[in-house]
Amino acid sequence: MSITPRPPIPSLIPESAPFTPEQRTWLNGLFAGMISLDESVTPLSNAEAAKLLPDVVLAAAEDDGAPWHNPAMPLPDRMKLAEGKPLPLRMMAAMAQQDCSQCGYNCKDYADALFTKKELRLNLCVPGGKDTARMLKNLYAELGVPQPAGPAETAPAPAVSARGRSRDNPAIATFVSRRRLNKEGSAKETWHIEFDLADSGLDYVVGDSFGIYPMNDAVLVDAVIAALEAPADFPIGGRTLREVLIDGVSLSPAPDMLFQFISYLTGGDRKQKAKALADGQDPDGDAATLDVLAALQKFPGIRPDPEAFIEALDPLQPRVYSISSSLKCNPGRVSLTVDAVRYQVEKRTRLGVASTFLASRVKPGDKIKVYVQKAQHFALPADPNKPIIMIGPGTGLAPFRAFLQERQATGAPGPNWLYFGHQRSDYDFFYEDELKEMRKTGLLTRLTLAWSRDGKDKIYVQHRIRDDGRDLWDWISRGAHIYVCGDALRMAKDVERALIDVVAEHGKRSPEDAARYVAELKKNDRYQADIY
Ligand SMILES: Cc1cc2nc3c(=O)[nH]c(=O)nc-3n(C[C@H](O)[C@H](O)[C@H](O)COP(=O)(O)OP(=O)(O)OC[C@H]3O[C@@H](n4cnc5c(N)ncnc54)[C@H](O)[C@@H]3O)c2cc1C
Ligand SMILES: NC(=O)c1ccc[n+]([C@@H]2O[C@H](COP(=O)([O-])OP(=O)(O)OC[C@H]3O[C@@H](n4cnc5c(N)ncnc54)[C@H](OP(=O)(O)O)[C@@H]3O)[C@@H](O)[C@H]2O)c1
Repeated sequence: MSITPRPPIPSLIPESAPFTPEQRTWLNGLFAGMISLDESVTPLSNAEAAKLLPDVVLAAAEDDGAPWHNPAMPLPDRMKLAEGKPLPLRMMAAMAQQDCSQCGYNCKDYADALFTKKELRLNLCVPGGKDTARMLKNLYAELGVPQPAGPAETAPAPAVSARGRSRDNPAIATFVSRRRLNKEGSAKETWHIEFDLADSGLDYVVGDSFGIYPMNDAVLVDAVIAALEAPADFPIGGRTLREVLIDGVSLSPAPDMLFQFISYLTGGDRKQKAKALADGQDPDGDAATLDVLAALQKFPGIRPDPEAFIEALDPLQPRVYSISSSLKCNPGRVSLTVDAVRYQVEKRTRLGVASTFLASRVKPGDKIKVYVQKAQHFALPADPNKPIIMIGPGTGLAPFRAFLQERQATGAPGPNWLYFGHQRSDYDFFYEDELKEMRKTGLLTRLTLAWSRDGKDKIYVQHRIRDDGRDLWDWISRGAHIYVCGDALRMAKDVERALIDVVAEHGKRSPEDAARYVAELKKNDRYQADIY
């Protein structure tokens, strides 16, 4: 059989795009892969390939020396892009790129703090999870200093911020109430949560997020204690084992260190398996489902020393939530809009620790450790006359409820357009009465809804955005500020793509120019995102 040589793939990245030679090579390779990896697929035409260019041009236009700064890009691709870069940049590429502030920094500052050893905790990137922690551990080795190991070394630096203004110096707030936002029969479980800030001395502005120190589920804690075959009141640092398990350590996922610890306590095949798991391998294909309880159940009978066991776990981290209220309408109060994370692994229901703490465990009157996480580049326009376009499916609605309350309380004359979407209109229309009332009073100039499971076709907010292209372009031309909030992995990227298409079609621009236009909106803080 003769093999026809494949024609060379032309460079698809415009010479004018501001890439380094390595980035250009990598991106051309990526495109080449997209276009012709699969021999059975007809290669893309130049026109089709050109359609893909805006994403690349957008990345280039936004490139601040970190082209991997894209939460939808998988970790191996990010690390590839960062190859050959100085260590702090490679550390940054290991982060989840959401700039979500859960670690107390943005991605770049967290990396810089690790590099300069101002920060010793390698496991603060919640959305990056174990993959990020592992990669950071490898990169940290290049510093040629010992890895920060146990809790003593990973303890937070002394607090420098005012109380309640950072994760390292929380304040105390009182939990007031929860109210379910979906109707009975919904597939989702989303809650309107209220806290009283009166005793905390805290305030906030719309756009900020609220950090919560959660507690683990007592039923899970008791199951862990039973699997350890240890007494619940075993003393650990002046507290009991049960108390430490409730609020001191993370019970999901099982950290590498726990498997390493287990490998010391066992022998033969079990030892090899535990070692492999500690190295990030997946000998039985179940690694992704192993929380701390499942790890103990996988290696029954090891009966570890409870104190050493606790040392092998990660500290329990706070979670942040977009604030869904304005202080001007709710003095002394803060509200959140929280989707309860529950999912099934075999017979056991797994619980998202913070969301189910808020959704079912915390009781009215309970005092909780909290802090306000200041928003970076997520705020209403300083000029109250500016139109705003808010795109927030699901819990992404949260900050926009706050924005609308604020615009109402301040009598801001600028028009307000909200895109909200969720699964089913009959069950998942959060704050329906409020939003309809705002429509009636004219505060909400336009309300556009996208229900993904009402009909046979999925309708998402980006479909509505494309339908409304002409009017959207009109608002954008009049100086509208655009906001997007919610899912970082897919929705935010799809929405951005739709906006580029709108600018191209109605602003009569080439796809590349439309991408540059949107990148420029971002640079000028006229397109802001709060995504997770
Ligand atoms: C800036 C910002 C604002 C946010 N605002 C909001 C908000 O307004 N409302 C809101 O609800 N959340 C919001 N979040 C997300 C929130 O911080 C938490 O990440 C979320 O509540 C889950 O935390 P948890 O502790 O309940 O779950 P965790 O204990 O952290 O568990 C979540 C993990 O469980 C796993 N998982 C989840 N579902 C499944 C599944 N079906 N199958 C298998 N594994 C699964 C995944 O590994 C996931 O990472 C925001 C996040 C950020 C960064
Ligand atoms: N890990 C995941 O796969 C995943 C997925 C979604 C959300 N989340 C997380 O779950 C939490 C809460 O989610 P949530 O309650 O805010 O709602 P959500 O689950 O994000 O869903 C809100 C709405 O967005 C739709 N949607 C799904 N994919 C979309 C896309 N690419 N573009 C636009 N819309 C899309 C959903 O439709 P359908 O559900 O009908 O597709 C639904 O109608 C967040 O922390 C979020 O990050 C995780």
